[in-house]
Amino acid sequence: MKSPLRVAITGAAGQICYSLLFRIASGEMLGKDQPVILQLLEITPAMKVLDAVAMELNDCAFPLLHGIVTTDDSAVAFKGANIALMVGAKPRGPGMERADLLKDNGKIFNTLGKVINDVADANIRICVVGNPANTNALILSKNAPKLNPRNITALTRLDHNRAVFQLAEKTGNNLNDVTHMTIWGNHSTTQVPDISNAMVAGEAATSKVDNEWAENDFIPTVAKRGGAVIAARGSSSAASAANGIIDHVHDWMLGTAEGDWASMAVPSDGSYGIAEGIIFSYPVTCKDGEYSIVQGLELSDFIKGKIKESEAELIDERETCSDLF
Ligand code: NAD
Ligand code: LMR
Repeated sequence: MKSPLRVAITGAAGQICYSLLFRIASGEMLGKDQPVILQLLEITPAMKVLDAVAMELNDCAFPLLHGIVTTDDSAVAFKGANIALMVGAKPRGPGMERADLLKDNGKIFNTLGKVINDVADANIRICVVGNPANTNALILSKNAPKLNPRNITALTRLDHNRAVFQLAEKTGNNLNDVTHMTIWGNHSTTQVPDISNAMVAGEAATSKVDNEWAENDFIPTVAKRGGAVIAARGSSSAASAANGIIDHVHDWMLGTAEGDWASMAVPSDGSYGIAEGIIFSYPVTCKDGEYSIVQGLELSDFIKGKIKESEAELIDERETCSDLF
């Protein structure tokens, strides 16, 4: 039996975590042979609800769940953590953009970044989910200088999965026939869902759908899907977000599917001419717990222009919150 991995999760009594925690404990994120200890953080007023979540986790009798820590002390939650899922933050409501959350949520990532820096495993791998996810990840990174900045990532896998569904539905194919989907940029309405290199059942997606659909229907549908869920549900996506987190960490730790890639927001190393350091979504392949940005893809002028708009938004967000670095 492998020794357990410690997974710290913030916002553990919230909507996303009510789906996420049970799937981690059942082995869907790290494998059916990998025990876990869940280290769950909440704010003090939510501790009673968190206790109930812990009771339910125990009542599932998951063999891989080797321990649960519930706490409102971040130093306890992140102690020795190998993986951190940074979910705890305010969600947006109808009519808001995710960047409107920066003022309130940015402070959380400033504070918790310092704590992680002090108490977590130096190789901790982090997935930031709380919005605006890319820039919150940057704030965390700036406050955690002891960590490897490469290991501080943000979630765009939900957008990737949304894009795969839209293309499969449009072409009448199965979801697992769609590969090589890409989300570039920010987890915001400027994100660039891109089918240029996508394949559908072994053929180029661009030969199966027209450009008009790709540019004027597919891109806005995927980029505004979070808002559409909020409008329909009254609150933001939860189970699908949890699923995106499971996929993000699963592929990072255990590898992307053979011959395919995934989308992850990672610190830019300048690839594709993007400003270094901002947390930017790229196509990546993963192996043995490391990711590599896919290089050398041909991009149309239209896609290049959209990518520049998303980069400009991230640079602007970076300036807005520089007092938190
Ligand atoms: P929620 O309000 O249901 O839960 C958030 C939880 O975080 C609450 O229980 C709250 O008490 C807790 N919390 C707040 N501040 C905290 C802190 N400092 N430390 C620990 N816990 C804290 O919200 P949710 O639906 O679970 O969404 C959480 C975040 O995820 C939101 O910011 C939302 O916008 C974002 N989100 C991101 C994506 C993505 O793809 N990146 C997708 C969906 C939602
Ligand atoms: C999403 O994409 O569903 C989340 O980021 C929640 C939101 O605010 O749209």
